[in-house]
Amino acid sequence: MQKKKVIGIIASPRKNGNTAYLTERLLNNLKDCFETEKIFLKDYEIKPCEECYHCAEIDECSIKDDMSDFYKKLREADVIILASPIFMGGVTSRMKAFMERTWHLRKGQLKDKIGSYIIVGRRDIGSGVNEIEEYLSRLKMNKLAGVLGFGLHERTVAHDEEALKNIERLSTQIIRLNETK
Ligand SMILES: Cc1cc2nc3c(=O)[nH]c(=O)nc-3n(C[C@H](O)[C@H](O)[C@H](O)COP(=O)(O)O)c2cc1C
Repeated sequence: MQKKKVIGIIASPRKNGNTAYLTERLLNNLKDCFETEKIFLKDYEIKPCEECYHCAEIDECSIKDDMSDFYKKLREADVIILASPIFMGGVTSRMKAFMERTWHLRKGQLKDKIGSYIIVGRRDIGSGVNEIEEYLSRLKMNKLAGVLGFGLHERTVAHDEEALKNIERLSTQIIRLNETK
């Protein structure tokens, strides 16, 4: 039987950073049961929404850039993990641009998928979790409680035992849900 798909979308500029570390741990836990893919938004050109409302009627975005690759990936994925550091009290601009550009997918196209998140900050995570929770609601996805990690320098989140425990918890939840579906 074909494995279901999990994608981890990482919005940090640091490929060896804390958000990448936690996302890699999660994907590693899932790799026996799922096909996994790690995506760094940094590798793609994703412009912000221009508010042209082209997508209000038509199920597509008018901007032609690397975001086109993602629409197919999102539709094909069974589990979508959004992973972002906290910059200035919220998710990074890369994550914001990505989220804005999926506005046309808010009509339930992704409703049967599982969505969750990994958020990493140094101390004050501000509205980061709310932003992602709101986003997953807009897309009408099945939400699983995500993971919060704390750290500043690269990979220091590896010492955040609660974050690591929550990665294990989220991995187990995703695997169990997959088994019952
Ligand atoms: C521009 C900038 C703004 C930041 N703002 C916050 C913040 O508001 N709250 C916080 O807790 N950490 C903040 N940080 C710290 C990062 O969230 C932290 O270093 C995190 O571990 C980075 O994740 P990464 O290693 O995956 O890139 C900021 C860092 C930068 C570079």
